[in-house]
Amino acid sequence: MNELIKKLVEAYGPSGFEDGMRDLIRPEIEKYVDEISVDAMGNLIALKKGDGSGLKVMIAAHMDEIGVMVSHITKEGFLRFTNIGGVYPHTLMGGRVQFANGLIGVVHCDRLEDRGKVHPLEKYFIDVGATSREDCPVSVGDAAGFVRPFLAQGSRLTAKSMDDRIGCVVAIEALKKLKKTPHDVYFVFSVQEEVGTRGAQASANGLSPDVGIALDVTGVGDVPEARPMDISLGKGAAIKVKDTGMIAHVGLVRLMKKRAEEAGIPYQLEVLEGGSTDARSIQIANAGSAAGCISIPCRYVHSPSEMVDAGDVEASINLLVEILANPIEL
Ligand code: CO
Ligand code: ZN
Repeated sequence: MNELIKKLVEAYGPSGFEDGMRDLIRPEIEKYVDEISVDAMGNLIALKKGDGSGLKVMIAAHMDEIGVMVSHITKEGFLRFTNIGGVYPHTLMGGRVQFANGLIGVVHCDRLEDRGKVHPLEKYFIDVGATSREDCPVSVGDAAGFVRPFLAQGSRLTAKSMDDRIGCVVAIEALKKLKKTPHDVYFVFSVQEEVGTRGAQASANGLSPDVGIALDVTGVGDVPEARPMDISLGKGAAIKVKDTGMIAHVGLVRLMKKRAEEAGIPYQLEVLEGGSTDARSIQIANAGSAAGCISIPCRYVHSPSEMVDAGDVEASINLLVEILANPIEL
């Protein structure tokens, strides 16, 4: 599975620029689904048909990643940029970003008046080796993602964009393992989550599922001076109860816990005090749905080195399979 993770986390795909991601994921799932389509926004939607006795279920994992977009080019050829999604300035210094055509830029900052202070995004710039605006190979409006190689060290897996490529991996691996299901399951590899769960909103409006489950990362409370939170790396899949955008359907949370316990899958209960997922959009699309989320615990979310545990990834895959292979009684 590390091969698939490496392929997806190292790929380019800031919000709104997910074409390459879609091309990578499609061949991974094609032979395990009955129908596959792409909607107007670019969501990749794959249907695995049920036996007619179950519900309409939407699973969402977002293909996009945070990144930057060129807003202005100085006459010396340096790029000023704006954020795509939640980019924190203190994660940028000395980092590298990559554009769609493979061109790499180094990120640096204007002269620091105060080295103890985090400077706002407008003080940062990208150097792609240009010497003037005229010879700059990048245009205003071009988007870049961060660059960082995938690292597997023991059970800890680290990369940029574990958020949410690891959710995509959970969806793909669950599809491979799911032999039969009573439900019509729509696996949506969504776009533009990082700028406000926009892709999932459109696809949930189109599909009107009975049940919606997002697969995404969650924060943890197990690093120095973290905000107290009962989630640790390596202690299992996280079943979301609440985040800033939603309260998960209580019946679905109950069912997730039951399935985990029956199958002996390690799990933790998640109350996330900062952030939300595609599940929020699915919950309130059209007349609403029973929505929840299986979260993969992740350290250093929205930094170029996001870390997950392989055991938690495995637990998340197994939990999703147990839910989909059995009746969903809410
Ligand atoms: Co995110
Ligand atoms: Zn995410």
